Amino acid sequence: MAEQDNNIFYERINKFIAAHGKIARRTVDEFLLQGRISVNGITITEPGTKINPFKDKVYVDGELVKTDNKKVYIILYKPEGVISSVSDEKRRKTVVDIIKTKERIFPIGRLDYDTTGILILTNDGELANKLMHPKFKIEKTYITNLSRPLEEKHKLKLIDGIVIEGKRTSPCKIAFPDRHNFSTVKITISEGRNHQVKNMFEHYGYYVRKLHRSEYAGLNLKGLKPGEWRYLTAVELNSLTKK
Ligand code: URA
Repeated sequence: MAEQDNNIFYERINKFIAAHGKIARRTVDEFLLQGRISVNGITITEPGTKINPFKDKVYVDGELVKTDNKKVYIILYKPEGVISSVSDEKRRKTVVDIIKTKERIFPIGRLDYDTTGILILTNDGELANKLMHPKFKIEKTYITNLSRPLEEKHKLKLIDGIVIEGKRTSPCKIAFPDRHNFSTVKITISEGRNHQVKNMFEHYGYYVRKLHRSEYAGLNLKGLKPGEWRYLTAVELNSLTKK
């Protein structure tokens, strides 16, 4: 299964070679044991080894395993009840199952199973790694439905940054789209820690009933319904690569 930490994708070497080299995964495992596979010049024998599919150079019998060269960029309106990865051990539906392309795409970052909204998927690892790197402070805007109205004192603390799991959150923006309803909160953050928005509100005892990402890096879901997707336009792509 492919994974991503804060800013890098990793994939199991046997899966990577099976997909790109069109070799059965079991055969790949045998090749590994026979010492026929190397990564960046080092022989690898362990099938569970994880590699960065966009950076590492993988060789079978000295021949480079080539990856896709046509880059695709997709915007998806992620519906509820879909997992943001390429495969799932529990066989739940993934965002990649929704999208019919022959390229091997990955989501840039994650949305929780029950979170809806904008998700960008691509096979361009360089752009993905860049957009996920904290240094670029890519803005993500969420609309949250809280279990009770957000109090002003908590709003101010959250804007300044609070300590979650020993690490301070960066300053963020908070607004109320409906000035008569303080339980619906628009929050813009520029980091992407796991469950960050839920954890921020839960820190002060607010339960996030609904979470929807309405914007990512200046892009929005205009014209798409839940479960729909399309390729990014040249203008949209340009705006991402310029970040
Ligand atoms: N923050 C969360 O808590 N969940 C998401 O899905 C995205 C951001």
